[in-house]
Amino acid sequence: MLSIGNVHLGSQLVLAPLAGITDLPLRMLCREFGCELAFSTMISARSLAWSNIKTEKMLFTEQGDRPLGIQFLGVDPEMLARAADKLAGLPYDMLDLNAACPVAKVVRKGEGACLMKEPKKIYELVKVLVERTSVPVTVKLRAGWDNASRNACEAALRAQDAGASAVFIHGRTRAQEYRGRVQYETIREVKKALSIPVIGSGDAFSPRLIKRMLDETGCDGVAIARGALGNPWLFQEANAFLAGKPEQDRPGPADILAVMRNHLDRCCSFHGEALGTKLFRKFFSWYSKGFLNIKPLRIRAFAACSCNDMMAVIDAMESLGMEPGAPVYASREADVIET
Ligand SMILES: Cc1cc2nc3c(=O)[nH]c(=O)nc-3n(C[C@H](O)[C@H](O)[C@H](O)COP(=O)(O)O)c2cc1C
Repeated sequence: MLSIGNVHLGSQLVLAPLAGITDLPLRMLCREFGCELAFSTMISARSLAWSNIKTEKMLFTEQGDRPLGIQFLGVDPEMLARAADKLAGLPYDMLDLNAACPVAKVVRKGEGACLMKEPKKIYELVKVLVERTSVPVTVKLRAGWDNASRNACEAALRAQDAGASAVFIHGRTRAQEYRGRVQYETIREVKKALSIPVIGSGDAFSPRLIKRMLDETGCDGVAIARGALGNPWLFQEANAFLAGKPEQDRPGPADILAVMRNHLDRCCSFHGEALGTKLFRKFFSWYSKGFLNIKPLRIRAFAACSCNDMMAVIDAMESLGMEPGAPVYASREADVIET
């Protein structure tokens, strides 16, 4: 259905890299709901090359966490080569170069979306990675630096010439960051220009929006990012919708609470209780959207310091109702789809 080099997938959906978010617990949870290819959080090639312990922890994986893509951030070919060497013997299936991150402290160093200003550099860096690893190499691009310099096709062609096995394209410019609508036409143009698979990214918030991205751009797959936050069901629901099944009802409160407990357990056992509980706080907010009178419990969740504290807040959600009749995706679709 979607093949990237020697990685053959039964689904067109991918869990996109999300810095500080797509850790092992979230990847494993999304996999329970039908996600196949998932990406690590963004890893600084320089930190990995210098054996930073915190960075090495980002590479932790377990059985079942496959196929796994690792994403590098970097601009120095030597650092990228050394970082790729550090992956030797580790279980991973794909290596991605980040040319999309818009954060000021990243682009200031010439990394992330700043690479969109230098398509020749993208060629050079992809080539280094292709030479240093045996797994397929991909690159994550933006539509361009800003609206006046929308050069995604040129950058994508350079990546393809350098040996990339696929291109991920976030259809917004760096100047847009995460605002405004994704530009389907940019993704369509990149798809037309390349012979390798193109995976679209942007506004993949609902099964209908994911189908629309595939239909309107002709792309080979869709990367799910913010749409998966508090909603791992999106993988299952979108896979079913793409297979022609009708849209499903949103999960009920009991399903949501069961997934929250599962996710919290995973966070605490992977990160340790204190950090795991702290990291889960933002997920609490995402999962609890749509619950009535949730505010006091959100305040308690943000003060929770132990797994037991957080579990007690989740238990207390059992007595809350949910907003009636508001389909989970309606408001997000309304923002994107013009009617
Ligand atoms: C909090 C956050 C962190 C992100 N981190 C990364 C990252 O580390 N690497 C990357 O390539 N993209 C990153 N992205 C971009 C997403 O992968 C995705 O391309 C973008 O959010 C557009 O998709 P969406 O509109 O469906 O969310 C991040 C986005 C968000 C919101």
